[in-house]
Amino acid sequence: MSNSTLLQIDKNEARLGMFIHGFGKQWLRSPFAASQFKLSSPAELKALRESSVTTLVIDLSKGVGPTSSTVELPKPIESSTPPGTEATLMKATGMVRSIFSDAASSTRVDQQQVEAVVDVVDQLLYTRPASVLNLTKLKTKDEISFQHSVAVCALVGLFARHLKLDRNLVRLLSIGSLLHDIGKIRIPTAILTKADKLTAHEMAVMQTHPREGYAILVGTKGLPEIVGEICLHHHEKLDGSGYPDGLKDTQVGAAARIVAICDVFDALTSARPYKKGFTPEAAAEMMGTWSGHFDRVLLKQFFDCMGLASPSVPAQTRQMTDEMGGIAQADLHNF
Ligand SMILES: [Fe+2]
Repeated sequence: MSNSTLLQIDKNEARLGMFIHGFGKQWLRSPFAASQFKLSSPAELKALRESSVTTLVIDLSKGVGPTSSTVELPKPIESSTPPGTEATLMKATGMVRSIFSDAASSTRVDQQQVEAVVDVVDQLLYTRPASVLNLTKLKTKDEISFQHSVAVCALVGLFARHLKLDRNLVRLLSIGSLLHDIGKIRIPTAILTKADKLTAHEMAVMQTHPREGYAILVGTKGLPEIVGEICLHHHEKLDGSGYPDGLKDTQVGAAARIVAICDVFDALTSARPYKKGFTPEAAAEMMGTWSGHFDRVLLKQFFDCMGLASPSVPAQTRQMTDEMGGIAQADLHNF
């Protein structure tokens, strides 16, 4: 570490009076809203010990260092836990349900309601970034589509900030990701909730949802075009095998590529009535092997953002990855 006052320690060495400088790539697992602060209460120490963080970086110039003899035991937590993730998810889910059902009858979306949900999700990202991984797990049978929309919105919000995109662009990506599956309101529930494999006909019906959603969004006055584009192209794959247009490589815009990664990650890590969710690590490993599906450069950046091990890049996809590097970086800033 270049700064000699910084020291990486195991979380079990943490004690009151230490100044936390950061959590490295594990920041997403941090139970704290702030990234740099002095550990000053037993409740904070307990939260740190019980979190999935394994190591942290402390600043010796601003607080005490580790000691092998005096590790302070936390006292019972008193209780000022920030608003729960589940409560926030329920609130946002209810709002999305209302947006989707209004769109079913009026074939347009209420932009004010959409902005309000993005505000709720943003608040969660600001106060409890670590809770995003929980959002991807907390789904109940009847609310899967709505909760999926909120979870993808949160993942995209985090990822877009990690990519250091412009604030306005982050906002548009959040709105687009919240609405990416709105076309599912036109898909029969029997198909949407079917546990068994879809027939060819059912699959064809299911695959109309990007176009159905796009029709709703382009009919909504004032909604930026990128929002419709995300909805229309979130199931495209870079090798041209996606739908609805079979776009290839650079034909798939960066916004759709970002949302596609977050969409699939949430789908894999979510429990369904008929399956358990994969762990984030297992999902990352699977996604890393699907050559031709995702933008590999963005995929690696996504795993960096989530503090997950980067997937290995198979030799046959390395050239495409190199090409995509320039493209992805260029059009990330050129929506
Ligand atoms: Fe979709």
